[in-house]
Amino acid sequence: MAVLPLVIAPDPVLKKKAQAIDVVDDAVRSFMDDMLDTMYEAQGIGLAANQVGDLRRILVMDVAQKEDEDAPKEPIVMANPKITWSSEELNVYQEGCLSIPDQYADVERPAEVKVTFLDRDGVEQSVHADGILATCIQHEIDHLNGILFTDHISALKRNMMLKKSLKIKKARAADLE
Ligand code: NI
Repeated sequence: MAVLPLVIAPDPVLKKKAQAIDVVDDAVRSFMDDMLDTMYEAQGIGLAANQVGDLRRILVMDVAQKEDEDAPKEPIVMANPKITWSSEELNVYQEGCLSIPDQYADVERPAEVKVTFLDRDGVEQSVHADGILATCIQHEIDHLNGILFTDHISALKRNMMLKKSLKIKKARAADLE
């Protein structure tokens, strides 16, 4: 298990479409564990492979402690996730992203989605998600398609947020030198 370096926007890998994987093997499971370590370390509720510079369709999430910080961890891993149904009803949630530090914006998305995916054992599963899990799944699948939550808001606000993110990216890079 290892904490991986996070990719901060703007970065070309965050705009790329990740590719489906053929099989969930030990190497993939190990990568999923590293992604979970990275997400927990950064105190995020979701992380997509692009955000650690990898272009496989893999995401990890844990929204359990978002609503109750004393709740036990409930890690979820998904390979090749696919939305098969979205509700007409929409929901607005204030989103943030580990790749756009300290920036938040209201984003409107379908309130419920059904998703199929391969679990940690490579078994096909499906979930019907609502609430924050539905938002998180859509945010992370967007990442796998090269889309950031800032792509859902006005260009003016997006440019402002990406400028701030670039400043933070440069400051962090300077710290590492
Ligand atoms: Ni994100």
